[in-house]
Amino acid sequence: MDTDTSTMTRFRFGKSLVVAIDGPSGSGKSSVSRETARRLHAAYLDTGAMYRAVTLHCLEKGVDLTDAGSVERATRELDLSISTRPDTEAVLVSGIDVTDAIREPRVTRAVSAVATTLGARSELIRRQRQIIADSHHRIVAEGRDITTVVAPDAEVRILLTASEEARLRRRGDQLGGTQTAEQLKQQVLARDARDSSVVNFHQAANGVVTVDSSDLDFEQTVTAVLDVVRTVAHH
Ligand code: DC
Repeated sequence: MDTDTSTMTRFRFGKSLVVAIDGPSGSGKSSVSRETARRLHAAYLDTGAMYRAVTLHCLEKGVDLTDAGSVERATRELDLSISTRPDTEAVLVSGIDVTDAIREPRVTRAVSAVATTLGARSELIRRQRQIIADSHHRIVAEGRDITTVVAPDAEVRILLTASEEARLRRRGDQLGGTQTAEQLKQQVLARDARDSSVVNFHQAANGVVTVDSSDLDFEQTVTAVLDVVRTVAHH
C-alpha cells in the first residue's frame, strides 16, 4: 500500500480535516501545503494569493495604498475567485486571469500595505472562512494567520519555519539567482518584518505544532507535515 492509499484510508471522505499552515516567506509553505493537499485528496487555499490579488488590483486601478479606507473598499468590492484544486493554480479578478501577474516584484513590494490594512484583512478573512466551509472542511489552508485567526479550530495547526539563511537561499533559488543578497533581504526579511506588525507567524501559538524545515528537503518536509496530520488528527 503506498502512502497515498494509506492516507486515504485513514482520512475518510466526509470527515472534517482542516489543515492550517502558517509561516514566514521562504519557509516552503506554498509548495509543501499544495503537495500535502494532493496527498490528502483535499482542497488547497493559498491565502497570500488573495492579498496579492487585492494589491495588483489597487496598483492597476490607482487606488492609494496608504489610504486604509480606499484599500478596504477596493477589497470589499473585488470580484475575486481562486482555484482550490491543488493541481490548478488560478486566480481571477473580474474574470481576468492574474495568476502570473500577482507574483510580479511590484506586487511583492507593495503587498504589505494591503496585509497591514485591518479592514482589508477582515474582508479577506471572511472570504477565506467561506472558502473553507465550501470545501466541506477538507482543505489545507496556508498563510500567516490561519492557525490563529482564520481557522483556530482547525483539526491540524502547523507553523512551518526555517532559518533565515535557509529562507533567503530558497527564495534566491526560486528567483533564479537574479537578485543580489541585499534585494533578497528586502524581499524576505523586510517584508516579514512589516507583516509581523499585524500577525504573529514567528512563534507557534498554543496547540500549534512547529515543523522546522531548515535541514529538510522538500519531500522530507511534506513527510514531516503528513506525520503531524496523522498524529494530531487521530489522537
Ligand atoms: O505568502 P505570500 O508571500 O504570497 O503572501 C503575500 C503577502 O500577504 C505577505 O506579505 C503577507 C500577506 N499575508 C497575510 O498577511 N496573511 C495571510 N494569511 C497570507 C498572506
